[in-house]
Amino acid sequence: MRQDVIIFGPPGAGKGTQGALLAERFGLLRLSTGDVLRDAVQHGTPLGLEARRFMNAGELVPDAVILGIVGDHLRGPAATRGVIFDGFPRTLAQAQSLDGLLAQLGRTLGAVLVLEVDDETLVRRLSGRRSCPSCGALYNVYLKPPREDGRCDVCGADLGQRPDDAADTVRRRLEVYHEQTQPLLAYYESRQAPLRRVNGDRAVEAVQRELVGLMQS
Ligand code: AP5
Repeated sequence: MRQDVIIFGPPGAGKGTQGALLAERFGLLRLSTGDVLRDAVQHGTPLGLEARRFMNAGELVPDAVILGIVGDHLRGPAATRGVIFDGFPRTLAQAQSLDGLLAQLGRTLGAVLVLEVDDETLVRRLSGRRSCPSCGALYNVYLKPPREDGRCDVCGADLGQRPDDAADTVRRRLEVYHEQTQPLLAYYESRQAPLRRVNGDRAVEAVQRELVGLMQS
């Protein structure tokens, strides 16, 4: 499928989870700006060094940095495939630049899929999230705890927490979402983009079924 899609929603709404499933199902490239930034932080690149302080404080990384990442991907690995944008755009400037970039490259935005989940559920999801630094398995201390506290069921390594999943930082990420990102919904509505709202507070499979249906409609 050669179609670009935005998966939109607050931190923890399930953008990464659902975006990865959609990418696999439809053969799309999932471009998560958060994943690109975390990879840069982990490798200590200049991009990572610049982004880390914003991310750990729950603030947005400057638009120019993000637009550089997206431009590089759209001109590179994504050139012949449809893209699922996960966690992008997050500001009006990013949304406007994306419109310009897509037009320049002869691409069209097929849909904006919006996952809706209330803030209290998101705080539990994110502050409870743990991951295995060794094999990548994901857990949640409230929703999907490991058999032994703090240890990976699969490989036995000590589990870690994303620095920005500390409860205070999660609350700041949610504030930033409501202040700077949620207003983009009005932007897309005013441009008559095909915007579809989905209840993200259901089982992963139920949310995925609805998203797949929307992608095919
Ligand atoms: P980013 O990595 O994009 O983080 P986020 O938007 O805060 O999203 P998350 O990855 O935490 O959540 P998600 O919605 O993907 O949900 P997930 O599927 O993981 O960005 C991190 C930071 O990078 C930003 O704060 C900012 O600093 C910077 N950044 C990134 N992009 C930027 C941009 N464009 N501009 C400026 N700065 C940018 O699920 C979350 C948890 O919930 C998991 O544990 C999962 O297992 C669980 N879960 C998922 N679905 C369900 C379900 N249906 N039921 C129960 N649990 C579920």
